[in-house]
Amino acid sequence: MKYGDLIQFDPIETIVQLRDADKSKSAQQLVNTYVISDEMAERMSQLAIPQIQFDQPVDNKGLLVVGNYGTGKSHLMSVISSIAADASLLDCLKHNKVKKEAEKIAGRFKVIRTEIGASTMSLRDIIVAELAEKLDSPYVE
Ligand SMILES: Nc1ncnc2c1ncn2[C@@H]1O[C@H](COP(=O)(O)OP(=O)(O)O)[C@@H](O)[C@H]1O
Ligand SMILES: [Mg+2]
Repeated sequence: MKYGDLIQFDPIETIVQLRDADKSKSAQQLVNTYVISDEMAERMSQLAIPQIQFDQPVDNKGLLVVGNYGTGKSHLMSVISSIAADASLLDCLKHNKVKKEAEKIAGRFKVIRTEIGASTMSLRDIIVAELAEKLDSPYVE
């Protein structure tokens, strides 16, 4: 037996899922299938959406989603970003409270989904370079 037979994984699977939301059919499916517990509904409507919306200044900050592998980080980001890019997906949301809050961000963003690898560049330089590159690309909805 070879070491390669012992260790098998697909390192880019979850990235693919996040990028999947670039396609509107996949985005719709991701929003449709996202199960929202009451606790998650609370976090989305009290924490995530208030930070993302820009109608009311709240010292908006970036969000860092932390969790073990397979706990739903990519799916959550896909749902939030898909709605931010396309208001018609609001109706696919399964939780009424979240749906109501999500109206504040629905369809009001251009979304860039990107991955940052190991880098010595400053975060600002990375973000600015990504914006410059992607704002002309089909990844932006
Ligand atoms: N709330 C949820 N509702 C439906 N499916 C979910 C939910 N959370 C996670 N999943 C599913 O579990 C799997 C792992 O989720 P994923 O977002 O890839 O995890 P992570 O990015 O944290 O590793 C995916 O197939 C995803 O669709
Ligand atoms: Mg992931």
